[in-house]
Amino acid sequence: MPEGQSRNDTIEDRLVEDRTFPPPESFRAASLVSSPALYDEANQDWQGFWARQAADLLHWDQDWQTILEWDEPFAKWFVGGKLNVCHNAVDRHVLAGRGDKVAYHWEGEPGDTRTITYADLLADVQRFANVLKGLGVSKGDRVCLYMPMIPELPVAMLACARIGAPHSIVFGGFSPDSLIDRINDAACRVVITADGGYRRGQPLALKPNVDVAVGATPSVEHVVVVKRVNEPVTMVAGRDHWWSDLMAAADAECPCESMDSEDLLFLLYTSGTTAKPKGIMHTTGGYLTQVAFTHKYVFDLHPDTDVYWCAADIGWITGHSYIVYGPLTNGATSVIYEGTPDTPAQDRLWDIAERYGVTILYTAPTAIRTFMKWGAEHPASHDLSKLRLLGSVGEPINPEAWMWYHEHIGGGRCPIVDTWWQTETGAIMISPLPGATITKPGSATFPLPGIEIEVVNEEGQRVERGGGYLTITRPWPSMLRGIYGDPERYQDTYWSSYAGKYFAGDGCKLDDEGYLWLLGRVDDVMNVSGHRLSTAEVESALVDHPAVAEAAVVGAKDDLTGQAVMAFVITRGTHSASPELGAELRGHVATKLGAIARPKVVIFTDELPKTRSGKIMRRLLRDVAEGRDLGDTTTLADPNVVEEIKRRAAESPTED
Ligand code: WT7
Repeated sequence: MPEGQSRNDTIEDRLVEDRTFPPPESFRAASLVSSPALYDEANQDWQGFWARQAADLLHWDQDWQTILEWDEPFAKWFVGGKLNVCHNAVDRHVLAGRGDKVAYHWEGEPGDTRTITYADLLADVQRFANVLKGLGVSKGDRVCLYMPMIPELPVAMLACARIGAPHSIVFGGFSPDSLIDRINDAACRVVITADGGYRRGQPLALKPNVDVAVGATPSVEHVVVVKRVNEPVTMVAGRDHWWSDLMAAADAECPCESMDSEDLLFLLYTSGTTAKPKGIMHTTGGYLTQVAFTHKYVFDLHPDTDVYWCAADIGWITGHSYIVYGPLTNGATSVIYEGTPDTPAQDRLWDIAERYGVTILYTAPTAIRTFMKWGAEHPASHDLSKLRLLGSVGEPINPEAWMWYHEHIGGGRCPIVDTWWQTETGAIMISPLPGATITKPGSATFPLPGIEIEVVNEEGQRVERGGGYLTITRPWPSMLRGIYGDPERYQDTYWSSYAGKYFAGDGCKLDDEGYLWLLGRVDDVMNVSGHRLSTAEVESALVDHPAVAEAAVVGAKDDLTGQAVMAFVITRGTHSASPELGAELRGHVATKLGAIARPKVVIFTDELPKTRSGKIMRRLLRDVAEGRDLGDTTTLADPNVVEEIKRRAAESPTED
């Protein structure tokens, strides 16, 4: 991009990507949405549009009186309406004669499998709902779930929803301390866990963490334990119970509690890197409406023929919305896999996709870049011809990762939906509709029907072209209803940067055709000689080079330029690190983005520090780059990674 580009208050727009991919004709012809009609309808009457979705996609016990009550920043959707999420996700499919349909093809990491029909789910969920009641859980009580990716996890979630007890899932990789904070914040009465789960071929213990935690969580009265790995565990009489014992003794029938549309469905804590985690609140009617709508239309779901696989963990919002609530509400058949993608070998996902005939795959850029690093021979050794649609979520997808996904996983024939959303938004907000939208590699394209997005500058004024800050300008059904116990923090965090707008914390640019390109978190934006550069663009320029599988860049303090771009790079396939390659990469970035974006240093590494959900922790890389002691590393997936990177950084000479 032009070196002469003037200094800019907002984030600069440098990366040029002009490849376009219209929906293949065969895909378009069979897709649910192949014209802009849905957008037109929503543009004319967005509230009416959401009301129609709520009525079409869900069963309501009682109709709502008001579509939306909006008292910024507090929204109430479908006010006065009553429904039960579990009834919508399970019972109504069985009542309609679809009990034998497979809800989940589940596969454990060791290779054990279970096929779970909607009728099976209904039976288990009713019993477990009675188990919860038997432990004294009633409507409104919070239940903590700390479990591996086993079928009992969706069963426990649905049982909570059935009786109106909000769940709070804590990802199985979190420590006892994280568990303590989250249990105490929500004052959970019961914890559901397992002896452990399988990870990289080993049993990973969970119950011992719960034992430590409950010593410091006075609200917890009972712990229910699923036996998964057969490791010895300590059971405290009166407090701890085996799942199987309780299920065997429970009644088979449990009616659904008719819930208010605005009753709390669940809490999910976002692991802020430093601050106290926020208990994000999601309620019933609006959440389920937008989750069902987006799952149906973004994934073009044909429930009778599709085999859908979201390869996220249920412990994250992606799993809540797109493994459990969305797919079940839409009567889909899904795959759930318990373990890691390289166990026993680096083709595990492709082996699973082939065996179950997966047609829709939804995963994260971090996973895609890992597959690039491992090499295309792994997917190539499996028949992936049933795949017809691919999805991406969690981070900006670099154009080259998009192209690799398109070619090596999608066989060049599958549209890709790059879906932007957050724990806070509850459901997808920006995404192509795969039968209607011409995609561009690296762009999440447009807001979905019913959603209004504005990119603004520092002053909150609309930006028509170029970089800025991503805001949402009107309420949406699955929006967070607040932070549990802290309405002020809710207001401050999300609604105080720009008047009347929800600020998502992400940078974003608009191209000439109005496509949205996410630029990463604004906290990570680099300021080099007054130029505000996006991490996403520099990383994409690096990944564009054939030798690079993955890259993370940060701005480190620099006497001359304020900040300097420091690049951490993982090489791809047979390429290996060398000073020559470092110089070549620096030049490559300068060619693509202008000299201002040229990394001062390229540090080659084998791994990058990531959160457990796969996001790069640039804050830690800044610490390394600036030679500081490391800040809080408790949310880091593998603490050893940073030590290794520190060592590599010390060996990398500063150039120029
Ligand atoms: C943040 C939210 C939404 C489920 C998983 C993450 C980033 C998410 C994209 C995308 C660019 C993305 C944003 C967002 N993000 N999807 N398609 N393109 N960035 O949920 O942990 O709440 O993270 O993830 O920075 O704000 P989360």
